[in-house]
Amino acid sequence: MFLTNFLFSSLAALTILLTDIPVIPRPAAYSARGKGSITLEKGCSYTLEGQAPGKEAFSEYLEECELALRKSSRPVIRFKTGPKFLNGRKADDGAYTLEVGRKGITVLSAGYTGAFYAVQTLLQLRASSPDIPFCTIEDAPRFAHRGLMFDMVRHFHGKDFILKQLDLMALLKMNVLHLHITDDQAWRIELDCAPEMAHEAAFGDSLYFHTMLPRFSQKFFHEPVNYVSGTVYDRGGVYGGYYSKDDIKEIIAYAAARHIDIIPEIEIPGHNRALLHVHPEFFCDRKHGVDNVFCVGNEDAFSFFFKVLDEVMELFPSQYVHIGGDEARKSNWTVCSRCRERMRKEGLKDEFELQSYCIRRIDSFIVSRGKKLIGWDEILEGGISENATVMSWRGTSGGLKSIQMGHDVIMTPNTRYYLDYYQDAPWKEPLAFSSCLTLKTVYDYEPEAEISENTDHLLGVQGNLWSECIVDDSQYEYMLYPRAFAIAETGWSPREGKDYEDFRSRALSLCVTASAGGYKCFDLSHEAGERPEAGVQIPRITNEARAVVYTGSDDSTGREAPFLVDGFLGGWNLKADSVWLYTRQRNVTIDIDLGEVKTVHYVGAEFADFNIRRLCAPQDTEFFLSADGVNYEKTAVPQLHLSPDRRHFNILTVGGTVSAKARYVRLRYNTGDTIVRSHISEVIVN
Ligand code: ACM
Ligand code: ZN
Repeated sequence: MFLTNFLFSSLAALTILLTDIPVIPRPAAYSARGKGSITLEKGCSYTLEGQAPGKEAFSEYLEECELALRKSSRPVIRFKTGPKFLNGRKADDGAYTLEVGRKGITVLSAGYTGAFYAVQTLLQLRASSPDIPFCTIEDAPRFAHRGLMFDMVRHFHGKDFILKQLDLMALLKMNVLHLHITDDQAWRIELDCAPEMAHEAAFGDSLYFHTMLPRFSQKFFHEPVNYVSGTVYDRGGVYGGYYSKDDIKEIIAYAAARHIDIIPEIEIPGHNRALLHVHPEFFCDRKHGVDNVFCVGNEDAFSFFFKVLDEVMELFPSQYVHIGGDEARKSNWTVCSRCRERMRKEGLKDEFELQSYCIRRIDSFIVSRGKKLIGWDEILEGGISENATVMSWRGTSGGLKSIQMGHDVIMTPNTRYYLDYYQDAPWKEPLAFSSCLTLKTVYDYEPEAEISENTDHLLGVQGNLWSECIVDDSQYEYMLYPRAFAIAETGWSPREGKDYEDFRSRALSLCVTASAGGYKCFDLSHEAGERPEAGVQIPRITNEARAVVYTGSDDSTGREAPFLVDGFLGGWNLKADSVWLYTRQRNVTIDIDLGEVKTVHYVGAEFADFNIRRLCAPQDTEFFLSADGVNYEKTAVPQLHLSPDRRHFNILTVGGTVSAKARYVRLRYNTGDTIVRSHISEVIVN
């Protein structure tokens, strides 16, 4: 923020013509320098003037990149580098100045990160026209962390896939790739200290992945695997793959040449069913509910993870290690004698403090090796380690709280940045993992909107792409692009001047460029967009209706839910605030008071339905009418007919005609035994 403010104040007098510059992320400041242009040809000449670390690597990149530059004493592009171009900034964070004029192209930057980003700007300009207009661009990142997370566990995508994505990330000036490589379904890194993990837990029952059965069901692949780097195996229903250490080294080197940091994630203490499959001795001694955690009372389990982390920290040069920390199912810990003993000895009052104990121990270990821990926002529960950096994923509240507490935070809210969600109307899209986050929803997220202090602790933003539903590489790309463009722009460009329509037109161009480069992008030009029914208010019998929701058997007071009678039907984004009512209880009653007795002709309701996520429209719905609020009469409105083979997310309307005088309408529904989550957006009365 400091950087962009600096640029903005120093360039306040210059005109910023956003759509004139087809570049994502939008540069901080751009000004035309009269008429004229330079044709930027492949193989044109360059010089590197000045000194900074990484000169040789940058030179190598320039000669190998698609511009295939060559050194010459009469250069078209002059890179001038050195501390005098720091302009009061702290380090070589990627800021650069690009001047295109009659005498050629000059790039000024403190170090080669800035010079590298100037080249990315030139590459994007050249993709729209080889004639680069005379201009000055002064550019710098808004945030230090501009990331993507790839889940390579639920479905494996090989080394070459990752290398390919690093090129496009670099073009977007993204600088962090967070690799999620261990989880319940597999362990995807071969380590010398625990080779059995990759060999026995990188291959699973592919049925799990293709049907998303909610229960873990792996038949591991025990015969010796003739592993070929970067290959995805899918043989006889057994599916998998893993990265060798050489693969990882190659990925890291390729990323480093593109100024991208690779952060590994080793899940602790939850999401560990693959580990428990191979090392059942790390289970708690008693089982209570769902298993996905190792026994925190077991010293051998800690030794295992210390060994793994040591090797991982040696392999990955990043200053950060991500240790997960999310969704640990803690119920085993409450009954396990070793965990209970640990709690007693350490003076921990409950399983949440036990989780905190575990994370603190891991944190001390990581800090003792000179590195820093990142964890998902559950690491706040039971007390957070003082050094930890938080990734806020369950919406934004965990991140906001952590910032208030003075922790560094990376914003990656599932309400905005989960790229495994549908990106358009679900009826036209491949199966996705949750409701819908359109390009606009992603773009419109403003990470600083709710932060008034400690803004320096907001390190940046990151999009996460979980791969439960993503079987092949091209679908993975399809889910990434262009939504990753939006995250890149929020991470880099100044908050001021954000404009979705301007961005969208640049995104359309960049999709064409990326597609020509072999990337599979979502077809933004044929976007269906928001559910049409969601945008207009439907006729209502009255504007004065009140809705009160009662859930469960002990809820006698209920809660007001005015959005259920506001005439606005739900859209594709189930996470949109004040549109959808989300409940986890089986029995729900909604009482509507119309304010006075009216003649009612129709009653209905709109529910979300996403069968495979166990988030269903209820089969069992009943509407009642009453004139006095005491005596209710059940209507004959039919229930929903739910076809058993539906898979996609959908919005269903249940309703029917009635004819009665009534002041009160009651909707009662029951989600059944297996379905525990329901979403309702509107009760319709006419
Ligand atoms: C997460 O989505 N469980 C971090
Ligand atoms: Zn235990």
